[in-house]
This record gives sequence, structure tokens and C-alpha cells, in this order.
Amino acid sequence: MATYYDEIEQLVIGTFSLWEVTRVGFSWRKYYLNHTYRVQRLALTMGQELDGDADVLRHSAILHDITKRYDGAILKSPEGKNVVDEEGFWLNETMLPARHNWVTELYDRLELGGQVHHLSGASLTQHILDEYGYPQNFNKPSAKVVRGHLKGKVPPEVHDERYKEVEVRILYDSDTIDPNVGLTAFYRNIQINAGSALKKGAPIDLAEYVRSLPRWISAKDSFREQMLTELGKQICDLRQQRMRSVVDQLHGELERPEINRQYGLLGAVEHLFTNPEDPSLHEHADELRDVWLPEREQAFSAEDGETREHAEAALQRTREFIRMLHGEINGQP
Ligand SMILES: [Fe+2]
Ligand SMILES: [Fe+2]
Repeated sequence: MATYYDEIEQLVIGTFSLWEVTRVGFSWRKYYLNHTYRVQRLALTMGQELDGDADVLRHSAILHDITKRYDGAILKSPEGKNVVDEEGFWLNETMLPARHNWVTELYDRLELGGQVHHLSGASLTQHILDEYGYPQNFNKPSAKVVRGHLKGKVPPEVHDERYKEVEVRILYDSDTIDPNVGLTAFYRNIQINAGSALKKGAPIDLAEYVRSLPRWISAKDSFREQMLTELGKQICDLRQQRMRSVVDQLHGELERPEINRQYGLLGAVEHLFTNPEDPSLHEHADELRDVWLPEREQAFSAEDGETREHAEAALQRTREFIRMLHGEINGQP
């Protein structure tokens, strides 16, 4: 099959960039594309193990949130309740792009405004793949995968029909894991907190934030039960374990906050809180590895005595944290 994947990826990048707004609800400008790549990489990792069609996964994953930037604030009823559709999905205000391309023109022509983004995304996936001349036995399953990335309240027989193909289950699992479980979710939590601190004009209390984390992790245990594959459950377990051990280490670091803010996880987390106006996990992770860590390693060479010992252990924890962060970004379980 001829593939236009690279062109489609550029189309997605171009489409996301048509909006100027930097923060909407629990998302921000660079979140959409970062999240899309992570979901795609994790889906491909899972697909290898579960024998999913890699071409379908690659294309459907890159397109799955293509209409997500239209989502503005959650619609509220006059009584202040979230407005939901018949399957229980929250509805959002429609946020129009600042500029247009043929994807947004297609969105208008197909009158997709007001649809929940998995439905409008599935329509656009079908039409975009048609436009590039892919065969129908590729386009239909790909659009179905996009449609399935949100799961509504439906009768069991409808559910079974929607999630029959392994590719649909894989994308659902990887899209649910990314914002909710593991270090990728940790960063989202950091930036949600950073965003509300920015709004209030109040600084973050790092120690207080660290002490709030065990509760946050426990609230994520339930995502395991939402998984549609056994592998998805295993990845949830692995990521929850990884996250718990990071939080344990952060708690331990509070005993020596000064040295650990310089060399340890406390310092790395503090760095992840920076640039709340326009954050990006992928940029932050690269900065940690390429700038932050080398600077600390340089400073470390001048330390001696007991400080040196603690700094060495702290640096070791941070190196491992940065390595695991890149692992998850790159789609490792
Ligand atoms: Fe989505
Ligand atoms: Fe998504």
C-alpha cells in the first residue's frame, strides 16, 4: 500500500497550529501534539505485542484528536451541571481556529461543529484518508479506531461491536493511559497545578505539592479496570508502580530539601513546573537531560564530604527519573 503518512502527520501538525489559545481546561497548546505522538508510540508498542495492524494504528493514532482543538469550555446547564449527550459524553463549547486549512474547511462543510471529538475525528479521518486515495478496507477500520478512542455508556452488544478489533482496543487503552497513568500523567498533573497557580498569581509550594501526590496516585488505580486489553492492565500496573516509587523518593528527599532541590528529584520536578504559560513535556524532558543534568554534574564535581555523598545519590535518582520519563515519552510501557 502506498503511504502518505508523512504528509498526513504534517497536516495534523499544521491543523493543531491554527489555534492561538495556549491553555484550555486541562490542556495547553503543545499538549495536543505531544499527547498524540505519545499515544501513537505506545499504541505501536502494544500493537507489536498484540499483533495489531501497524499501518492502521500509525494513521489512526496521528489523526485521533484532529478535532480536539475545537473543544472549548465544558457546556453547563442553567443549573450549573455539565451538559451530556445520550452516551454520557460531556459537551464542549466550540472554539474556532484563528486561521484555516482544508481540514477546517472540511470540518465546516461536513457540519461537524458540536459533535464530540471522537465522532468528528472519525469523520475527518475517513475523509482525509479518502482524499489521499487509501483503500476503503483501510479507511473504514482506521476511522472506527478513532471513533472508539472514547467509550460511551452503551448496551453490551453495541460495545462488543465497537471494540471487536484489537486496534480499537489498543488505541483506547493507550489514549486512556497517557493522560492518567504514569510519568506522562504526572507531568500533566504538574502543569494543571502550575496553570491554576498562574491564574491565581500564587506560587507553588513544592513540599506541599509533593505531600499531595499519594492521594493523586491512589485516584488513578481505577484506570486499570477501564482497560480493554490485558496488556493495558499490565502497563497500568507498571506505570503506577513506577510513579509510586518516584513519589516515595520525593518524600524522602523532603528531609534534605536544599541539596535535593539542587541535585535531586525535587529539583527536576521544580524544573517541570517552569514555563507554565506555554509548557511542553517533550521540551522539558529534553532540557532536563541536555542542560539541567549536565549543569548539576558540573556543580557536583566541586562538592566534598557529606554533601558530596548526598548529592551523588540525588543525581543518581534524577538520572533514572529522566531516563524513565524519556522511556514513557517514547512509548515504552
Ligand atoms: Fe481524544
Ligand atoms: Fe487523545
